[in-house]
Amino acid sequence: MKILASAKNQAHSFDCAPGEKILYAGLRSGIELPYECGSGTCGTCVAKLIEGKIEDPWPEAPGRAYLKPDADEFLMCQCVALTDCSLEVPASVKLMPAGAPVPLHLGGVVDRSRSLTHDVLLVDLTIEPPLDFEAGQFVLMEVSDTPGRRAYSMVNFDRQARRLRFVIKKKPGGGLSEWLFGPGVEGARVSLFGPLGIATFSPDIAKHLVCVAGGSGIAGMMSILSRACQERYLEGYRGHLFFGVRTARDLFFLDELSEFKAQFPETLQITLALSEEEIPATVREAHPRLGFDTGLVHDVTARHMKGKFDNIRAYVAGPPPMVDAAIRMLLKEGRLSPGNIRYDKFS
Ligand code: FES
Repeated sequence: MKILASAKNQAHSFDCAPGEKILYAGLRSGIELPYECGSGTCGTCVAKLIEGKIEDPWPEAPGRAYLKPDADEFLMCQCVALTDCSLEVPASVKLMPAGAPVPLHLGGVVDRSRSLTHDVLLVDLTIEPPLDFEAGQFVLMEVSDTPGRRAYSMVNFDRQARRLRFVIKKKPGGGLSEWLFGPGVEGARVSLFGPLGIATFSPDIAKHLVCVAGGSGIAGMMSILSRACQERYLEGYRGHLFFGVRTARDLFFLDELSEFKAQFPETLQITLALSEEEIPATVREAHPRLGFDTGLVHDVTARHMKGKFDNIRAYVAGPPPMVDAAIRMLLKEGRLSPGNIRYDKFS
């Protein structure tokens, strides 16, 4: 099927395979159609159908709440084209910059799954074909028999990656996360689409880094720290990572974070924030390279960063209320410009 998408600045046309979501067809053609979650919740990918027929396999998608009733609007990340279609996209749409990783459909097999905490898993997939992505990006994952897709950020950072690593938080009633926590997952096949997301780090930003993560939001920050360490970025710039969870039993990746810190002891500061209890002495003693504090992670970040917000690029990931609080703090207390605060809202 041919799709003609008329945006505010210009029109773009692209092919859409039978059954393929219109958003994914546009993105894999190198066209930066608007999106945030890619999975039916945020409403960012709204378009208006001018001509042709589409089908919406998930009419209950929460993102439909943002559509104007009776205006022929639909979510591009949910709908498939049944005929050639002409659409109106209420945004400016550019082509992806040369060299940017273009999203594609991938197959994956669950290689290994192990518990990090009582409700968090670390899952490794082998993928085909290999994938280039930017540190901080995510993919959408889907399994047959379980409706919907979920966004998961890569933990690792590799060129032409053949393996991807993800942090999976257990969500009661969340189809995909419950499947991943269930029996017989190792060896199972999944479908992926990506890489996606604009909360990315590359060394050419030439700024000090502040990473603020809540819970499983640490995944993308691990990818960012991996790239920063691999490319010796922290020889020239400071890095500050703040990782917030509720209690000590929710902590994970402490050994991995200690290893990052060991590589750049002078320029990398890593602080773990517990919001509901003091850090037990045993945890503090077992991880002498890491800092610990008590409070909500955005408050802890504000305290530790006071007077140090010059020339900073900030990355934020976690549950939506935590992301909103951290962004408010970075704008108000850090006085960062919106362009220097990167986050993806897909939780
Ligand atoms: Fe489509 Fe979020 S609802 S991108």
